[in-house]
Amino acid sequence: MLLKLTILPGDGIGPEVTGQAVLVLQAVADAYGHQVQLQHKPIGGAALTAVNDPLPADTVQACLGSSAVLLGAVGSPAFDHNPGHLRPEAGLLRLRRELGAYANLRPAVFFPALEDCSPLRPEIVRGTDIMIVRELLGGLYFGQPRSISGTSEPGAAGARVAVNTMRYGESEIERIARVAFELAMKRKRKVLSVDKANVLECSRLWREVVTRVGKEYPEVKLGHQYVDSAAMLLVQRPTDFDVVLTENMFGDILSDQAGGVVGSLGLLASASIGGPVGLYEPVHGSAPDIAGKGIANPLGAILSVAMLLRHSFQLEKEAACVENAVSAVLQQGARTADLAGKTHAIISTADMGHRVVEAVKVIARAPAA
Ligand code: IPM
Ligand code: MG
Repeated sequence: MLLKLTILPGDGIGPEVTGQAVLVLQAVADAYGHQVQLQHKPIGGAALTAVNDPLPADTVQACLGSSAVLLGAVGSPAFDHNPGHLRPEAGLLRLRRELGAYANLRPAVFFPALEDCSPLRPEIVRGTDIMIVRELLGGLYFGQPRSISGTSEPGAAGARVAVNTMRYGESEIERIARVAFELAMKRKRKVLSVDKANVLECSRLWREVVTRVGKEYPEVKLGHQYVDSAAMLLVQRPTDFDVVLTENMFGDILSDQAGGVVGSLGLLASASIGGPVGLYEPVHGSAPDIAGKGIANPLGAILSVAMLLRHSFQLEKEAACVENAVSAVLQQGARTADLAGKTHAIISTADMGHRVVEAVKVIARAPAA
């Protein structure tokens, strides 16, 4: 198979982690007889620096012309004072919209080798395997109107007002609910829909529509939880969760929390699908404080390659090979700084990538069990 990809390294640690992820992709493609064709394009701060646009038209064209997109991260303090549309993040949000990627899948899986990394007791976190299904093109991130208006005198207390709009249409809720129920059918058949229906109209409509779609999936056990209470349960009883279905901003927050629960945000991968071309990225972001030091954890990006193989190419064996390679190197004690704790030696981003590449080769050669 030809794997035609656009790579968007982006900002901060993005280039370092995508570099390793591409090496792993190449290794798994070689092992299973696939061809890889790559083009690299700028996004975020890197694109702002180059052409003063966080998502150049050429980048969008390249993405739409490929079979899948692998992204590192966007965001840089250098642009903190830019107007909204000239921030790195605006490039990512526009890309999600251009790709029609309304379904953001964020698995949070506990690796047995990482018991010492979770702040939770082993008996609480052991067995955690959560799939967060985050709506990605609606809610506060995209709702209109949005503005900051009024004037503020320098030095005086300001009188400005800021507005964002949370907006959801029934069809937007329906399509993301279907994604969650379909995934649940292949897992433990549990969907927890997270909302704030005691306060927000958006959430009341959300709950109604999700309940209606749920009737089409009688085998799936559907529950509803307010987001505040869901956040508490996520640390108290993470193993109770299977598929979590939620709107854009709640999903943003809960997925970082889930990263903390399983030991490091650096491990979390994501797939943004639903449109013609899937977008795959680690959840961790640009981490400017550690950028360029060669110490970032590339496993979130590497596990995003596994999701890419599975969701954009239906290459399940290849995806599992990457995931098993990651488990194997963690089992062998390979640890980047975020995972090392007091007991393990720290290896670099490149060493971690290399270890996974070697494990991929071994696993691909082993006869199927
Ligand atoms: C994420 C990030 C993004 C988001 C930012 C960088 C726009 O936090 O993917 O979780 O909020 O969606
Ligand atoms: Mg986030």
